Amino acid sequence: MAKGGVVKHGDVSQRVGVESIRARGVDVEKLIKMLIANAAAEFSSTYYYYTILRMHLAGHEDYKEICEDARLEDRAHWELIVPRIYELGGELPNDLPAFHNQAGCEPAKLPNPPNAVNILTLLLESERCAIRSWSEICDMTFGKDPRTYDMAARILNEEVEHEAWFIELLAHERDGKSIPSGHFRRGTPGDAPYSKNRGFYNP
Ligand SMILES: [Fe+2]
Ligand SMILES: [Fe+2]
Repeated sequence: MAKGGVVKHGDVSQRVGVESIRARGVDVEKLIKMLIANAAAEFSSTYYYYTILRMHLAGHEDYKEICEDARLEDRAHWELIVPRIYELGGELPNDLPAFHNQAGCEPAKLPNPPNAVNILTLLLESERCAIRSWSEICDMTFGKDPRTYDMAARILNEEVEHEAWFIELLAHERDGKSIPSGHFRRGTPGDAPYSKNRGFYNP
């Protein structure tokens, strides 16, 4: 049975949950930085860029609906990962512009002209950035930090689906081509079947 370790009896200044993953080779400081960068990307994506981009798909109600799922699922990603940053001993920057500037993905400005092809292209590339970022977290934590790995892998599941959705929509809108994503409508908008906090906070 495992006992002892570097954290002293009753010490609240250190965490066994951190020391145990450090002992397994995780660079915790680097992981916290990467999680903050990913949280910033999810935050600005769901609350700002996706909201604006989605609104400008007016008239493409089918695209708007898919975009809304992706937007709300980014909110689920934000809410899933923020508590993990604090568990690891990190914190969100106490300054919103500073937080925004640490985002791991390019801010998605409304394109000029804001037509469906340009908006769908931005959304597709934003999903691709998310896939790259969450894959890096998976690589860093695999076999060493099961909790972060599990969260990142669940987010990654949805980012991969989002990429497939936007490939389908962009191929149709821009090239008149059918590249199915295999997508079925979510049960409720932004259902986030892999990443909702439900399992943790609303059992
Ligand atoms: Fe996301
Ligand atoms: Fe996404």
